[in-house]
Amino acid sequence: MSKSALTGLVSLAVSAPADVDTDLVVLPLVEGESLLDEIPGLDDATAGAVQNALASREIQGKAYEVFLTPLIRGWRAARVAIVGCGRASDYSLERLRRVATAAGLAAKQRRVARVAFVHRAAGRNLEATDALQAITEGLLLAAFNGDRYKSRDKAALPPERWTVVAAPGHGSTAALERAIERGRILGESSNLARDLCNEPANVLTPSVFADRGAQICRDAGLSVEILDEDEIARLQMGLLLGVSRGSAEPPRVLVMKHEPAGAPSSPVLGLIGKGITFDTGGISIKPADGMERMKDDMAGGAAVICAMRAIALLDAPIKVVGVVPASENMPDGRATKPGDVLTGAGGRTVEVLNTDAEGRLILGDGLWYAQRLGATHLVDVATLTGACVVALGKAASGLFGQPDSWVDLVRNISARTGDRAWPMPIYDEYLEQIRSEIADMVNTGGRAAGACTAAAFLKEFANDLPWAHLDVAGTAWADDAKPWLSKGPTGVAVRALAELAFTSKDWA
Ligand code: BES
Ligand code: MN
Ligand code: ZN
Repeated sequence: MSKSALTGLVSLAVSAPADVDTDLVVLPLVEGESLLDEIPGLDDATAGAVQNALASREIQGKAYEVFLTPLIRGWRAARVAIVGCGRASDYSLERLRRVATAAGLAAKQRRVARVAFVHRAAGRNLEATDALQAITEGLLLAAFNGDRYKSRDKAALPPERWTVVAAPGHGSTAALERAIERGRILGESSNLARDLCNEPANVLTPSVFADRGAQICRDAGLSVEILDEDEIARLQMGLLLGVSRGSAEPPRVLVMKHEPAGAPSSPVLGLIGKGITFDTGGISIKPADGMERMKDDMAGGAAVICAMRAIALLDAPIKVVGVVPASENMPDGRATKPGDVLTGAGGRTVEVLNTDAEGRLILGDGLWYAQRLGATHLVDVATLTGACVVALGKAASGLFGQPDSWVDLVRNISARTGDRAWPMPIYDEYLEQIRSEIADMVNTGGRAAGACTAAAFLKEFANDLPWAHLDVAGTAWADDAKPWLSKGPTGVAVRALAELAFTSKDWA
């Protein structure tokens, strides 16, 4: 496993905050709570510093504010950090996870070796196990370092030891420990996806991407297969081949299977991720400015790979198949040209109006292959359209699909796991926008509703199965650092996809 994903030990302590053996104790504070009443001894231990900071309104409990002060007597730790959670009405698993990340990033910045995050249950309506899992995920997300290629000035190392502290009386120790372990696997899997997104495209070619993904999944006990160019041609995946034609690097399809003993034959969850290791736009070439960002055009594929890893390690009770078509999108003498017609493996024909709309092409063949492998319920993840970034910014992924019940399920899971996604429509008008004069459809519907016409295109390949499409073009990469999120790849959708595999009792 890569070094930046190594996250040290996370362990449970069931005790009073004063008794935890650590360097820094983190106490989350919701606005309006009376911290000093609820944590007796804190004011004395800080020689009145907390009282003073509350009185001067240096501490208000505003979301992600951090106040640090020494612990002088009575507590085992040397310092305490009070981290704001915002208003009580905004308190949720997502908020708690972000608060834990904010605390973890603050600790990392201060080069603290051991950190203990105290789960304060009073007045918060979360299950203790859910809360401990979210805290663990948040702490591990803070441990991510994207400094593999720095030969000097390495980022600060994350704390060597994390402790999540629960007050006595909040469920069995074994259940709490399982929750922390679940959070550890999901946080670590998110960080592995971030690592893959950070890799430059000269390192992470389609074949290297498939190999690295295969290794991650084999280590987790999945059965894995990599389809090479011959096999892809034999399967007649003409859309994927059409995209890869302009590249010196051959395409790949990474196929991962989770088939636990005793799983029912149906449902089979199919996860499909866009794996464009670099998107120049092809002959419809992109402007130079910012093109370097297109190395993360495989973020959807990375999310599927790392979600499959988590699904295997957590032993989801159903069958799951993962399909990641991988290719570069390059201009070249042999490249697909605007006006060319391609034929997908399922027989659908596509007139390519813009070679920069390549993601939907490779996903078309990916969706077909997942169904061929028996998938009954589909979710695809892709950095698909700039239009989705215009619509929702960096605040949420675009969510499309059918039927509404399946889309709602994906939306709810996304909210809980911190992979926020917002529902968008696929009206018949959008299908009309992608009608072709000479083929079954064109691959772009023009500027209007660009994220929706892309989804309408994919819908043709989902046939009538339950299907959800996550457009993560805006959410896969953070352009600016936030207190609760560092700059760079986010690992979006890993946790949502993994948790989805545990909800099959709610599937129609
Ligand atoms: N990979 C891009 C989408 C993208 C844009 C991701 C910005 C992240 C940030 C995708 O392949 C693309 O180029 N889409 C085109 C589609 C258009 C030609 C119909 C776009 O959004 O401009
Ligand atoms: Mn493109
Ligand atoms: Zn792309």
